Amino acid sequence: KTHVFLGISGSLRKKSSNTWLLSTIEGMMPAGTEFRIYQGLASLPHFNPDLDGDEAESHEAVHVWREELREADAIVICTPEYARGVPGSLKNALDWVVSSGEFMNKPTAVISASPHPDGGATALQSLALTLKMMSASIPEEASIAVPFVSKIIGPNGSVTDNKTLSSLLTLVRALSQAISEK
Ligand code: FNR
Repeated sequence: KTHVFLGISGSLRKKSSNTWLLSTIEGMMPAGTEFRIYQGLASLPHFNPDLDGDEAESHEAVHVWREELREADAIVICTPEYARGVPGSLKNALDWVVSSGEFMNKPTAVISASPHPDGGATALQSLALTLKMMSASIPEEASIAVPFVSKIIGPNGSVTDNKTLSSLLTLVRALSQAISEK
């Protein structure tokens, strides 16, 4: 069976370094895996508990979001840090799946990338706390803060730093391993 990895970027920016990191990871997929990138972050409505529950998926964007998560064997979230937190649009998307539980036992990788020396580690921690609350399975080697990101991405979006490439490869392997252990 083909395994599906779903990449989610926390940045809506066209030339996002986080989205480029996802493309780099896409290039590392082992044989027999498909890598998809979720494109719907900006089309989700603001989360409202009144709209949640049985009727939530009558909203097409909510349905697509949950369906893409359900179809994924593993998830890779790559996000910037905004004012020491997770970007609102990403947190909004996560709030839509607290009750429905798509992250439960799902092998999930978390990455933050920033031009700053700590690589957005505070947002990364916060993201991991949120996902663990939703019972996501985050392998130890699948949590990475990438510092100085503007210096390690070339003009065509490719990652030029070997240490980063190697930790991304380790992350992909940790996820594959977690899928096979399920
Ligand atoms: C930032 N940035 C930032 N960086 C960081 O390390 N810690 C932070 O708290 C913030 N806060 C912040 C707020 C806002 C509103 C913006 C626009 C930016 C800088 C951020 O890391 C940088 O813009 C990255 O390049 C964003 O990631 P993408 O869009 O390249 O993926």
